[in-house]
Amino acid sequence: MAYILGEREFWGLPFKVSPAVLVPRPDSETVIEAAVALLADRQRPWRILDLGLGSGCLLLTLLREFPAARGVGLEVSEAALAVARANATALQVEDRAALLLGDWRQPGWRDPLGGPFDLLVSNPPYIEADAITGLMPEVSRFEPRLALDGGLDGLAAYRAIAADAPRLVAPGGRVLLEVGEGQAPEIYRIFQSTGFTPEAPWKDLGGIDRVVSLRY
Ligand SMILES: C[S@@+](CC[C@H](N)C(=O)[O-])C[C@H]1O[C@@H](n2cnc3c(N)ncnc32)[C@H](O)[C@@H]1O
Repeated sequence: MAYILGEREFWGLPFKVSPAVLVPRPDSETVIEAAVALLADRQRPWRILDLGLGSGCLLLTLLREFPAARGVGLEVSEAALAVARANATALQVEDRAALLLGDWRQPGWRDPLGGPFDLLVSNPPYIEADAITGLMPEVSRFEPRLALDGGLDGLAAYRAIAADAPRLVAPGGRVLLEVGEGQAPEIYRIFQSTGFTPEAPWKDLGGIDRVVSLRY
């Protein structure tokens, strides 16, 4: 329905969508809820990084919530990046957002991003590759595979991001990651192995551990 209407509301803001982007989900608002609570000072010039922009719903919402913050976003799909850029303009945060094409599977991917960042957020693809065809047809048939496919065990993107996160996040900075049901313990282990300290997870409206929080 969102693809037909071309728009979906997220955290009370209108986001343009196209078949190149994941439709923003209420579960992902848990990332915003956690960031707003943990980075309590709304007026600080926080530096925020979003890996896997899609529509841009995470980064652009955070730039609206933190009016002095600046953000960098990375996206591998040119078509999705175009949607995120259109949303940045429509939400009037484009002057504080650098939205870049790039792929965390490629060597040197983090070099253009700059940093370090006070907050790294990501809702990466986290569905096990073999499970995608079993999802609801409106997801498996219409949403982009790039937004869903987390590799054989669903955790490939988290491993890639964890490997470079120590050079992207400032000392004392935070990582907030959306995760699939049951994935939180393993993702905490992956990020602990690269130097991050776990904090309590954040639950979605269904009571599922949806966002893992880590401190560097
Ligand atoms: C689950 S979607 C999340 C989109 C958006 N952040 C949200 O929460 O609705 C994951 C996004 O990561 C992008 N992505 C997948 N693999 C990537 C990679 N290797 N490098 C950069 N972005 C990637 C996808 O194209 C997709 O837009």
